Amino acid sequence: MEKDNAKKIVFSGIQPTGSFTLGNYIGAVRNWPLLQDEYNCIYSVVDQHALTVRQDPATLRKRTYEAFAMLLASGIDPEKSMLFVQSHNPIHSQLNWILACNVQYGELTRMTQFKDKSAKHPENINGGLLTYPVLMAADILAYNAAVVPVGIDQKQHVELARNIAQRFNSVYGETFVMPEAISPKVGAKIMSLQEPTKKMSKSDENLNATILLSDDKDAIMRKFKRAVTDSDGEIRYDVENKPGVSNLMGIYNVFTGKSFEEIEKEFQGQGYGVLKEAVGQAVVDGLAPIQGEYNRILSDKAYLEGVMKDGAMKAQRYSQRILDKVYRKVGFVQLKNK
Ligand code: TYM
Repeated sequence: MEKDNAKKIVFSGIQPTGSFTLGNYIGAVRNWPLLQDEYNCIYSVVDQHALTVRQDPATLRKRTYEAFAMLLASGIDPEKSMLFVQSHNPIHSQLNWILACNVQYGELTRMTQFKDKSAKHPENINGGLLTYPVLMAADILAYNAAVVPVGIDQKQHVELARNIAQRFNSVYGETFVMPEAISPKVGAKIMSLQEPTKKMSKSDENLNATILLSDDKDAIMRKFKRAVTDSDGEIRYDVENKPGVSNLMGIYNVFTGKSFEEIEKEFQGQGYGVLKEAVGQAVVDGLAPIQGEYNRILSDKAYLEGVMKDGAMKAQRYSQRILDKVYRKVGFVQLKNK
């Protein structure tokens, strides 16, 4: 990434906790390459965040390569954007500590994701699960990012990052840029295909609920055919009363560019089976080029590691200046010729 002061900084991250879902793709990753020309973009595979849930080490390592390859296959160009693995830049952890001392326990226990995940994993409510949003704030603030493209479920965490930044600035003087979360108009929350009032999630136990970017054509078509809809039989966009059909229409809109009115017209008088088949096919066609690229890139480990190394160096260099400023502001002794 060429540094261009006129451009705002974008930061976003994704956990390497399994194959990306269609929700990850539509809500976040698909939008990342679209920002590359207008902004200075910084994207990260956030492996440190993944440790809040117990991970098998070999699997985490494998999935980190896979996630990195998937981001490249989705169109992130390392010549235009910084792309790196979170644990390759120790500055996130260094800033994390300073920010942790500027956040209240109550702010952390109020986070919806903390409450959900502690309810789901009562046997492992570790410190990292609680302080997770602080590390996420450090990810964003280490680069003074102004724009954070995420799905709806991450907005509360970005809001907390804003509050921390504001607090730090008011105590120590202007240091951080206020980050703002942005989400796509359609698809900021892709729903489970089996329980369309619930978010589509990697960790869903019902395998039919989630489309994975690694799914082949048969799996994608099969899962869409089994998607839960409703019994009134009309193809109409109405999130409140028809969440299943509206979710399918949202996915179709993203892959075809057709408006909801056009989609309603296209399927007028037809059954849900026809809609499901068409959505499945649109997703298969839309993902095919990415899947091809993904397999090609993943097989070239030397290339992947080269991009990781280069990204880590750039990320470190960029965030070091911001960390130095923070250290100075909080009163740490700074040695010359460091
Ligand atoms: P993660 O890895 O859970 O998800 C990555 C991105 O995918 C979005 N997303 C969805 N969007 C729409 N519909 C869905 N069903 C859906 N499921 C997931 C998420 O909102 C997210 O944007 N904490 C973050 C990763 C992170 C981060 C950051 C993001 C770490 N540091 C700094 C932004 C900035 C997370 O766990 O995302």
